[in-house]
Amino acid sequence: MSLKPAAKLINTNLSAHEIALDSAYQGIDDAAWTSLFGLAKKVKLEQFIADLFAGKPVNNSENRPALHSALRNLNKTSVLVNGQDVMPEVTEVWRRIEALCNKWVGVTDVIHIGIGGSDFGPRLAIEALAHVPDVDSRGMRIHFLANIDTADLNRILQRALPNSTRVIIVSKSFTTLETMMNAKAVVKWLKDHGRTDSQISHALYAVTANVRAAKSFGIDPNNVYPFWDWVGGRYSVWSAVGLPIALQFGFDTFKQFLAGAHAMDQHFKSAPLEENLPVIMALSLLYQQQKHHIKSYAVIPYADALDWFPKWLQQLDMESNGKSVDRDGKSVKFSCPVVFGSSGSNAQHSYFQLLHQGTEMIPIDFIAIREPMSHLPEAKEHHRILLSNCLAQAQALAHGKKTDNPNNTYPGKRPSNLLILPKLNAFYLGALLALYENRAATLGALWNINSFDQPGVELGKVLAKPIEAALKAGGNIQANEDIDAITANRINLINQFH
Ligand code: F6P
Repeated sequence: MSLKPAAKLINTNLSAHEIALDSAYQGIDDAAWTSLFGLAKKVKLEQFIADLFAGKPVNNSENRPALHSALRNLNKTSVLVNGQDVMPEVTEVWRRIEALCNKWVGVTDVIHIGIGGSDFGPRLAIEALAHVPDVDSRGMRIHFLANIDTADLNRILQRALPNSTRVIIVSKSFTTLETMMNAKAVVKWLKDHGRTDSQISHALYAVTANVRAAKSFGIDPNNVYPFWDWVGGRYSVWSAVGLPIALQFGFDTFKQFLAGAHAMDQHFKSAPLEENLPVIMALSLLYQQQKHHIKSYAVIPYADALDWFPKWLQQLDMESNGKSVDRDGKSVKFSCPVVFGSSGSNAQHSYFQLLHQGTEMIPIDFIAIREPMSHLPEAKEHHRILLSNCLAQAQALAHGKKTDNPNNTYPGKRPSNLLILPKLNAFYLGALLALYENRAATLGALWNINSFDQPGVELGKVLAKPIEAALKAGGNIQANEDIDAITANRINLINQFH
């Protein structure tokens, strides 16, 4: 990797809406950029981006558009699905969210029940924005209940005050087992604490694309907030799935979150490929994959506020692009690398040893925030140290260090990006998430993968049913057509202690 930016063809210091991307430590020279842009042309990337925003059925296996961009289309220009403008429905939900914010009084606790895409986005946003100094917050306790493991349920029910708790059940399908069982358990808890049927009905809300199922669960139709099948679960935080953001921090903050994402969409749609942040990030990852056969990459935000960001990104990237066949069912050579990460500088004291000296090359996206996230007297000094750590790690990874002692030698030539956000607020959080969404879509286009379905999550759900029945029945079982010998043995091991 050259020490100076080798590439003249692209500016390795790019920016969109004051978010800067420095890709100089990718070590990609002009010839390589030329061939990467050649590939982008070959796969008709610009046409794909236009199709994505125009509502073409880019989710070809389910014959659907992927129009999460319409959910943040604040200028309300029409977006057609099957010839029908979806913006009136989208704006109606905004109106209802704002109205709900205005009448949301006396609430101490919100239990947000949902999993996967119905959990990570709002959880990340609530966590991140709670770190913003001087943030205007209602100060409610927002409890995210995702896992079927009753440890979470128990902890939440011990803290929440039943008389002033509201429950939001979030599920695109309204059939997800974990969510439905947790919802029933929370309703039972309300009943057990003496809440009447009408008080419970007042306390329950649903956010779903399956409005009929929400109503038959017993949710008052006035408390059901719809979204639509053209919104993928992992792309749904921009819909009413993001309701807790508006309820906790106000509707204007939620709008700012949408505005940041919308601004990034505009950039993705209109910037030339050579200046397009999501495209440059996607192409540089593709380069490391093709050239160095990287199997994973890390994302390290130097901000505690973004500690949930890598978990959100894991679903976005790996559920979208973790596939072995392309859009035509043919095997692909490359698809999504494993993504992991956590906030720096904590991460330095964990797995950075491997990033510097391990046998694998693991590219890194460093994310830095220019402004400190507190007004404490120590803030400036601490922040300087935080940023200097971030910059030093990237430099050490790029250059390495040669010594006579192999144990103290750093190989170097380990690529990284640096993203710098001017500050962390709702706008820049929205822009950051949209940047990575658009990057995932770009990678899908480059690999010719459908990034908008997730068939691989179904098999395990089906197999869990007979296994649950066997665990419920207890005793010893034999292998059968649903349960193999190894799993039968495991069931027997568990059952013997019951
Ligand atoms: O894990 C599979 C999945 O379908 C995700 O794609 C989705 O985000 C999650 O389950 C939750 O689904 P739902 O919102 O329908 O409850």
